[in-house]
Amino acid sequence: MNETVSQTDKTAATPSEHMVSLSLNQIIQDYPAPGGGVTRVIGGVDLVFERPGINMLLGPSGSGKSTLLNMMGGVRPLNVKTPTSGTISIDGQPCHGPHDDAVMVFQRYANRPDLSVYDNVAFPFRFKLWRERVPEKEWRARVAHMLDAVGLADKKALHPAQLSGGQNQRVALARALVLQPRILLMDEPFGALDAQTREEMQHLLIKLYRERPCLIVFVTHDVTEALMLGDRVVVLSTQPANVADDFAIHAPRPRSLDWQRSPEAVQLSERVLDQLHRVSPGKGSLRVTV
Ligand SMILES: Nc1ncnc2c1ncn2[C@@H]1O[C@H](COP(=O)(O)OP(=O)(O)OP(=O)(O)O)[C@@H](O)[C@H]1O
Ligand SMILES: [Mg+2]
Repeated sequence: MNETVSQTDKTAATPSEHMVSLSLNQIIQDYPAPGGGVTRVIGGVDLVFERPGINMLLGPSGSGKSTLLNMMGGVRPLNVKTPTSGTISIDGQPCHGPHDDAVMVFQRYANRPDLSVYDNVAFPFRFKLWRERVPEKEWRARVAHMLDAVGLADKKALHPAQLSGGQNQRVALARALVLQPRILLMDEPFGALDAQTREEMQHLLIKLYRERPCLIVFVTHDVTEALMLGDRVVVLSTQPANVADDFAIHAPRPRSLDWQRSPEAVQLSERVLDQLHRVSPGKGSLRVTV
């Protein structure tokens, strides 16, 4: 992590009850190669996220972003051990599987088609762990609050098929945040949405984050999205992936179109694009939505 980042992390610090840390220590990932042998996809990544903040993880397609994020969330593929070596720790404790405090949101929002919007948001409370942790009166209040916060209170009786893509992603976000996670791992959550809906969802995320800050790791292909949302931007190189750049953004959120066009933002955007082109000449897919 560079000097600028630690400065931002200090300014982003929130009260001690929200303290949280997530660290990746020398993470290496080898996957079976199609013709035999193995391919090293991740080549020794060290990353430390020390407190609440929005941390953007960028990198070309296939650079291993989802692999890293899934590891952080304890989601393990069936065919291979992950990580091959290295340690993931939450609050300083090595973590070998799903952690109750780390919740994931995917681009495919995984809403249950047979359940109403209300029941989709309340879904985690069907599980013993969460019912034991949160009394019914409280979880019902949380569900009502989240439905309101994501603007779906009047749609709570509808089913996912009756909603737009953006509304479905709101349901998924509400289902994640109703657990009040200390760590939120988001894998291109807005990647399938049109530009306007994506922007609305970015503003919603900023609003919800302000209400209850947590440690977010947000994977994106979109350089503009990274600059509009991030307290910190981490750029991965291509295979074997490593941290190619890691910098802080101090501008307050929401960041206006004027900020987006400011010399600072243009310079940061060029810095990321240069880095991505340097690490992956002609490879990967990147998006700039300026
Ligand atoms: N379970 C697996 N078994 C074998 N190879 C895998 C497995 N999961 C991922 N890979 C390979 O690892 C590489 C990184 O995949 P990953 O999905 O992490 O990349 P990504 O950066 O998230 O890509 P994208 O931006 O397209 O989502 C790819 O080459 C992929 O084929
Ligand atoms: Mg991915």
